[in-house]
Amino acid sequence: MGRFYVTTPIYYPNADPHIGHAYTTVYADSLARFHRLLGDETFFLTGTDEHGLKLQRAAEERGLHPKEFVDQMAEKFKRYWAMLDISYDRFIRTTDPDHERLVKHVALEMYRRGFIYREKYSGWYCVSCEKFYSPGEYIVVEGKPYCPIHRKPLEWVEEDTYYFRMSEFQDYILKVLEEEKRVYPEQYAREVASKIRKEGLRDVSIARPKSRVWWGVEAPFDPDYTIYVWFDALLNYITGAGYLEDRGRFNRLWPEAHHVIGKDILWFHTAVWFSMLKAIDVEPPKKVIVHAFLIRRGLKMGKSAGNVVRIEDLLERYNGSDGARYVLMRIFNPHKDVEYTAELLDSIYNSELADNYGNLVRRVGVLARKKLGGTVESETVDEGLATAIEKAARKYVEEMDNYRIQEALAAVMDLLREANAYINREKPWEKGEPRRELYSLLEVIRASTTMLHPVIPKATVRLAEAFGFKIEEGSLRDQVTPGGGRTYRVSEAPILFRKVK
Ligand code: MSP
Repeated sequence: MGRFYVTTPIYYPNADPHIGHAYTTVYADSLARFHRLLGDETFFLTGTDEHGLKLQRAAEERGLHPKEFVDQMAEKFKRYWAMLDISYDRFIRTTDPDHERLVKHVALEMYRRGFIYREKYSGWYCVSCEKFYSPGEYIVVEGKPYCPIHRKPLEWVEEDTYYFRMSEFQDYILKVLEEEKRVYPEQYAREVASKIRKEGLRDVSIARPKSRVWWGVEAPFDPDYTIYVWFDALLNYITGAGYLEDRGRFNRLWPEAHHVIGKDILWFHTAVWFSMLKAIDVEPPKKVIVHAFLIRRGLKMGKSAGNVVRIEDLLERYNGSDGARYVLMRIFNPHKDVEYTAELLDSIYNSELADNYGNLVRRVGVLARKKLGGTVESETVDEGLATAIEKAARKYVEEMDNYRIQEALAAVMDLLREANAYINREKPWEKGEPRRELYSLLEVIRASTTMLHPVIPKATVRLAEAFGFKIEEGSLRDQVTPGGGRTYRVSEAPILFRKVK
């Protein structure tokens, strides 16, 4: 039995999550569910990033204390994730006491080790990104610097601050990025490495004067400062693993850490995060899994661009969490931005879930009840189908192990297509007691349903119950192995996915 620790970014709770956030979260959830199915000891962490200027201002605009505001919003996020069947083990908030304790502990440790020093700072800041931009990084509109992502004017900031000596780690970071396979897809590691080779790794400001940003963790080395929100946020990943509270658990989990992120926060999750960890003698995470954006009308879907699709709309359109999760995972792309169109998602839902999977299940269920009274006893599995199951299962596990959920789903869809071709060829409805045919088809359904379970957790469990088998943690290998002499008791032939028009 292995172990698996997976995280999502902790989201800014200044607005409701949209399907761009769901894209990351459902992906991480599907990986977590896959590993539970394998029998791995799995820990899945998500949460909210609640400090900093962005939240301070969002609360001010509403006339609320930031804590009051983030309390409401964190509950909202939890409700959205419940609607999408997100099976996190902990929902971490950066205002959680154990996390605040950890931030102070780590900041003080770095200060003691000489990695933090005080100096003047000036630069252009994007509040939406919570990040400084240097010349060449920002865009210029009518002579003024603008954020390249949010297309909003940057703010000029000039103040005394504390720096983290990130420059000391340049050689180390380059070595990790260029020699260790800690970033998937690898192209992203090359991107960061070449930026560092071009510009060098510069020290970063990690504190803000309270007079400007009071909503944050107080700096343990200077009570007039709060810790920079990104420095605070990244540390959530080690708080969640028990770095301060349970070192034994941390030592077990950390070597298996997988951070799922969008490409917008790649720099923070590699250059900055790996340096922070090195400063306290912790290994980098096993993998940073990066994906590109969900875009709409050519722009990154987001609040600033005003082009978001709401999670509730996706849920409504695709008959609940299973359909919504499936379409998101089927278009998921680590390398390239994906343009959201209703036509694309509709056609995936209709052809793959409603037709290829749903119809097969329905037809086999109806025939099993009509021809065999619902009881289908063990038979020799059709050779072609048995081979197809084994082939699909091998491909599925390999793809899932390599974070390619889309490819894994494609393998299951291929298997289901073979089963549909088989049923059309064999025409079991024309036979008196098509035992062998139905048993073989049920074996395909059992394997496919189990493999689809991490992405569509509800419908698959419902189907397994209706057909008389069980999807349990650790049951994957057994479920995708054809044969084994079971009896199926088909109590119902459900219509799992109604087509959308
Ligand atoms: N709070 C920081 C993350 C700190 S992690 C230590 C943050 N939050 S965020 O709310 O802006 O969420 C960013 C993440 O949401 C992206 O990295 C990505 O995973 C996801 N996405 C938000 N919009 C997205 C798209 N349009 N497309 C794909 N993913 C998107 O950054």
